[in-house]
Amino acid sequence: MTCGIVPHAYVIFGATGNLATTKLLPALFQLHCMDYLAADVKILGCGRTPHERDGWRAEVRQLLLAGSAGQEPLLDGFVRRLDYLAGSLQDAAFYARLGAWALQGECPSNMIFYLSVSPELYVSVTAGLARAHLLHERNGWRRLVVEKPFGHDLESARALQHELDAHLKEEQIYRIDHYVGKESVQNLLVLRFANLILEPLWNRHFIDHVQITHAETVGVDGRASYYDRSGGAMRDMIQSHLLQVLALLAMEPPVSLEAEALRDEKVKVLKSIRPVDVSQLHGCAVRAQYAGYPQEAGVAAGSHTETYAALKLYVDNWRWRDVPFYLRTGKCLKERRSMVAVRFREPPMQLFQGNGIAGAHPNWLLIGIQPDDVVRLEISAKVPGLETRTRQISMDASVGSPGERKADAYEELLLDVIQGDRSLFLRYDEVKAAWSIVDPVMRGWAEDEHPPLQYPPGSWGPKAAGHLFGQTDREWRHTLGCAG
Ligand code: BG6
Repeated sequence: MTCGIVPHAYVIFGATGNLATTKLLPALFQLHCMDYLAADVKILGCGRTPHERDGWRAEVRQLLLAGSAGQEPLLDGFVRRLDYLAGSLQDAAFYARLGAWALQGECPSNMIFYLSVSPELYVSVTAGLARAHLLHERNGWRRLVVEKPFGHDLESARALQHELDAHLKEEQIYRIDHYVGKESVQNLLVLRFANLILEPLWNRHFIDHVQITHAETVGVDGRASYYDRSGGAMRDMIQSHLLQVLALLAMEPPVSLEAEALRDEKVKVLKSIRPVDVSQLHGCAVRAQYAGYPQEAGVAAGSHTETYAALKLYVDNWRWRDVPFYLRTGKCLKERRSMVAVRFREPPMQLFQGNGIAGAHPNWLLIGIQPDDVVRLEISAKVPGLETRTRQISMDASVGSPGERKADAYEELLLDVIQGDRSLFLRYDEVKAAWSIVDPVMRGWAEDEHPPLQYPPGSWGPKAAGHLFGQTDREWRHTLGCAG
C-alpha cells in the first residue's frame, strides 16, 4: 500500500555527509521497503562531492547493503529513484540547474528540501532555492526540513527565522528534532495520556523530582572541531532534545494530537520554566569536560566547551511548582543510556520504620529511552518471614515484543514530512522558549574564567553534578537497576 501518498521529490542537501549516509538514506530505503514511497518519488542528492548519477547510485547501494539483510531484492528499485547534482550550494548557477532538474517531465511537482548541511549554509540554500523560484507552491507543495541547531542562541535563532520568513510560510518549515521521533520518546505521550493510572499522581503532590538523562560512551570522534565551535552539551543536547523530553513529561493533556494542539501545550511548559538564577549558577548548572578532550584534534587550545552538562529546572505552574527537574547529558560516560526517572514522594507516615527495621523506599517510575525501551515501577513489599521488613521490588515491562521491529526516528520523521504532519516538528515559539532557558546559563559560563570541571572518561561525570541535589537524600539514578 502506498497510503495515498502524493508523488514528490526528496532533495537532500549534503547528501554525502554523515547524517545523510547514516540516517536519511537508510530511513528512506526503509520507507521504500515498507511501500510508503509512491512509485514516482525521486530522491535527489546534492553536494560538493563530484558524482555522476550512476556512481552515486552504486555508492548508496553499497552503503545500504550492509544493513539490509533480507531486503537486498528491494535495493535496485530504491537506487533507481536516486539522482545526483554536484555543485557549490553558494553558487546561483547550482540552483538554476536544480530548477531545470525539477522541470524534467518525470520529476514530481511536490518537493521536500532537506538541509543536511552545516547551519551556516541554511540561509544561503534557502535564498538560492527562493531565487530559483523553487519555494513557490504554484504547482504542488514545497517543504523545507531544517536540522538542529536552529540558531546558536536566541538572537541567532531570530535572525535565521527572519531569513526563512522572507521566503517561506511557517507551514512549510519542518524544524526537526530527531529525539522526538524516537518511538520511546513518543511513548512518553502514550504512557501519560493513554493510561489513567498515572494522571492522578502526575503532579507536585505526589512527585518528588524528575531526572532526565542522556549518557553516551562515545566522545566527539570525527566532529570535534564542529562540536567545539558550536558550543558543547548544553546547546547540542539540552536546548533541543532534553527540553523536548521535559516538555512531553510535564505538558498538560493536549485537546488532540493535531500539531498545533500538541505544540501549544509544549510551548506552555517551556514558557513556565523559572529563569535560572545566574547569580547562583553553581547551584543549578554544572559543566565539565572529559579528560583528554582538549587534546582531541580540532579542539581549540584552552577550549571551555563542555562535553557534560547538568541543569536543575523548575516548571512554575499549577501542576509542577517546586518540583525539580534534573537534566544531564555527557559524552564518554560509563554507559550508553537515556532514561527518565521519576521519584515519588514518601508516604506521610513511615509505619514500617524503627526498631532496626528499614523504612519504605521511595517509589520510582523509570522509563528507558535507549538502549532499553522498558518501563519499571519500583514499589515496597514485605520481605517474607515473621518480621515486618520491607524491600524494594520492581514491576518491569518491555515496551516491544520479541520480533517486533522498532522504527528509526528518521523513518518516522521523514514520513511525517511527506504526509505533512508537523506534530513532531518544533514550532518557532518552542525553539525560542528553549533558547531563552539555556541562554543565560551559557552566558554565565562564558563569563566564568574558570575552566570547566574534568571527569574521567568511563565515569558518570563530575562528582559536582551531585551538588545540584543540595542537602537532600536525592541522587542520580544512573541505571534502570538498583538506585545509586
Ligand atoms: C545529536 C547530537 O543531535 O544527538 C549528538 O548532535 C548526539 O551529539 C546525538 O550524540 C544523540 O542522539 P542519538 O539518537 O544518537 O542517541
